Amino acid sequence: MAVKVAPSLLSADFSDLGRELKRIEENGADWAHLDVMDGHFVPAITIGPVVAKSLRPRTRLFMDAHLMVSEPENHIEPFARAGVNLLTIQAEATAHLDRALRKIKEHGLKAGVALNPATPVSVLEYVWPLLDLVLVMSVNPGAGGQSFIPAVLPKIRYIASQVKELNLKVDIEVDGGVNRETAPEIVKAGATVLVAGSAIFAAEDGMSLIGELKNL
Ligand code: DX5
Ligand code: ZN
Repeated sequence: MAVKVAPSLLSADFSDLGRELKRIEENGADWAHLDVMDGHFVPAITIGPVVAKSLRPRTRLFMDAHLMVSEPENHIEPFARAGVNLLTIQAEATAHLDRALRKIKEHGLKAGVALNPATPVSVLEYVWPLLDLVLVMSVNPGAGGQSFIPAVLPKIRYIASQVKELNLKVDIEVDGGVNRETAPEIVKAGATVLVAGSAIFAAEDGMSLIGELKNL
């Protein structure tokens, strides 16, 4: 199955996100990865539902919103109304993971859980049936341009084995430090969606990387 590529807008030109969306779409991106940060779960503050809403009509891309926010259950409705397609919440950000995932599904969106590098896969044990995607953070959330943490490779392999063993239809998205050098190992470990921000938006030949990653 071909790998899907989800460029992260965090490293894009925030003064012209509409044009940046067009650029990644023209270069073969499958998804647009929106990094939502609230200044509380992570120190940075980025975008919210009002920006997602304004971007929706500017692209046909699948909009993959990564909520690095506390109490994500309070933000599901506004993102659903904004027109995103998938909402990924951080397992560490809520005491009510099951309820939050059910709420995402009730709003007709795909549901994902993101695991920080130190978070064990066991947190998914009782919510597998609710998942469309697991996001394996390969950096500590809050910024682009960080180095890939190789310790998450066995975690990706384990999740891929669980998805196979339980016969689930769950995407495995890897996010953080993905580039030309790290991607082959990540895909071999079982990733089906690659998020890349700085490798695409902050590199001279970044746009051509999208096609290269899709062919891994
Ligand atoms: C980090 C974000 C990532 C980040 C990836 O908190 O969740 O999506 O933008 O950026 P790169 O690819 O530059 O590591
Ligand atoms: Zn992200």
